[in-house]
Amino acid sequence: MAENIYPEFARMLKRADKERLLRQKGLVVWLYGLSGSGKSTLANAVERRLHADGRYTQILDGDNIRSGLNRNLGFSDEDRAENIRRIAEVAKLFLHAGCITLTSFITPLRSLRMAAREIVGAEDFLEVYVRAPFEICAERDPKGLYAKAARGEIAQFTGKDSAFEEPLPGDSATVIDTAAAPLPACLEALHTLISARI
Ligand code: ADX
Repeated sequence: MAENIYPEFARMLKRADKERLLRQKGLVVWLYGLSGSGKSTLANAVERRLHADGRYTQILDGDNIRSGLNRNLGFSDEDRAENIRRIAEVAKLFLHAGCITLTSFITPLRSLRMAAREIVGAEDFLEVYVRAPFEICAERDPKGLYAKAARGEIAQFTGKDSAFEEPLPGDSATVIDTAAAPLPACLEALHTLISARI
């Protein structure tokens, strides 16, 4: 596949050089969960907190990436896998630039989460399940997608006719339950979690 391609890293400045400049450790925070679970809300809120702490951050978000880099991808299992593969590769680039990288994608399958972890590297990958039951997300319905899906207007809708797998007890995922606690408490928990790693 990568025939006649010679990746070169020896001449490049090291990640550690950039981290020293930024006075932080890079990290990929992989937020996942159903549409409407609160991933983007939390990513944006915690990014503001980290910025106020003097941290250098970047958000990669589903709807933004899907209208640009991944505009040719839909919601089949195959396209979701390619979506996640590209995002993990991009997140890795930001990571190696010393950046605290917050991603918010549904990432519905355990295999997808494992693939992302594999690409980024386990030691730099913080997996956070932003949990809210399907019914709660459908009630919130900030984009009107659950109503559309209920009317049969969206194919392969996650949690309805496309699978969403919760993490298993053995998976190294932290759970933030946005149905059980208000946003400020969820934000606090996430901020504490990240701060311990950077
Ligand atoms: S993922 O499954 O490949 O990780 P991703 O997070 O990039 O999904 O995109 C999800 C976003 O796309 C949702 O927040 C929603 O706005 C939109 N969307 C459009 N169609 C669907 C669908 N069939 N299932 C889920 N989300 C959809």
